Amino acid sequence: MEIVAYGVLSDEEPLLRAAFDKAFAGRHELRCLRLFLDGDTALTTAGHEIVLSGVNDTLDAGVLRTLAAGGTRMIAQRSTGYNNIDLTAARELGVTVARVSSYSPYSVAEFAWTLALAVNRRIVRAAHRTREFDFRLDGLMGRDLRGRTAGVVGTGKIGSAFAAIAHGFGMRLLGWDITENPDCLALGMEYVPRERLFAEADLVSLHVPLLPETHHLVDADALGLMKDDAILVNSSRGGLVDTDALLATLRAGRLTGVGLDVYEEEAGVFFLDKSLEVMTDERLARLMTFSNVLLTSHQAYFTEDAVGQIVRTTVSNIEDYLAGRSGDNTLVAAT
Ligand SMILES: NC(=O)c1ccc[n+]([C@@H]2O[C@H](COP(=O)([O-])OP(=O)(O)OC[C@H]3O[C@@H](n4cnc5c(N)ncnc54)[C@H](O)[C@@H]3O)[C@@H](O)[C@H]2O)c1
Repeated sequence: MEIVAYGVLSDEEPLLRAAFDKAFAGRHELRCLRLFLDGDTALTTAGHEIVLSGVNDTLDAGVLRTLAAGGTRMIAQRSTGYNNIDLTAARELGVTVARVSSYSPYSVAEFAWTLALAVNRRIVRAAHRTREFDFRLDGLMGRDLRGRTAGVVGTGKIGSAFAAIAHGFGMRLLGWDITENPDCLALGMEYVPRERLFAEADLVSLHVPLLPETHHLVDADALGLMKDDAILVNSSRGGLVDTDALLATLRAGRLTGVGLDVYEEEAGVFFLDKSLEVMTDERLARLMTFSNVLLTSHQAYFTEDAVGQIVRTTVSNIEDYLAGRSGDNTLVAAT
């Protein structure tokens, strides 16, 4: 059969094809589309039992109904997060959903640090200047990390990898999570109430999943608690941060800077070339006007290692589905 993959990136396609051919050569074909899956494109899945999706595809109840009516019986999501998929609707429609529950947490943790370091040491401004042969240091002063406090919000796989790097820098570690991670405790992390973490941290990095309970976790109150010269990094999900509250904070001249790899309204924008269009998202446009905001388009996971693991696990999830098995990666096992 033909299996169709949506939102496939050019760097990802060879890795996806290699993993697919290794498992299914001569049995199933793979069609890779650059197109994202949403209400406008859902009909293009017609006749495909297995559909591969990604973080910026929209699989709400309406889209899933269209997929199910066209014969789709399995969604293989190529990411850990699945907040873009209505699992209740999938269950009702009898559509199996699997994800990649784990892959290199170092890809994301190292990228969160890339943002934190670049914001702290004004790397983007410095690089723009030297490219123009402007070698002044005015406005480029950063701060030593050693002895300062890192606040890790969510201390699972990525949060703990982030904490280990912070520990390497000689930082004091504060954590907030619903469960304490022994690896973080071994690094000397102190688990504290969320308010205390926001108030005491010089660097706050977000690593909890986006859930109804974590939506807008960083709101006006949380931002109000943060030190004026703190740095905020979000490499988890855009919906964790109330963008309007963040804009108000930045407009007030508070925070040293912000590193964002995710944005509340990133679907339909991130992963696409929008450079020749008018930017209609006022909040995204406003964010880009702050020289202390560094924004990347959901690329934290994008290493050869992580993407290699993601595509191999996705293929094995398809093998499980075809064999009638379910496992740790199965979110909905349709009967
Ligand atoms: N930017 C990217 O490319 C990228 C890539 C992968 C993952 N992510 C994001 O990173 C997140 C974390 O990934 P992970 O692999 O570390 O997941 P994980 O499951 O290992 O860790 C998540 C942690 O959050 C905690 N948590 C869950 N619900 C909570 C709540 N209501 N309140 C407080 N803590 C809560 C859990 O106890 C756990 O320790 C993912 O959910 C995803 O949104 C982003």
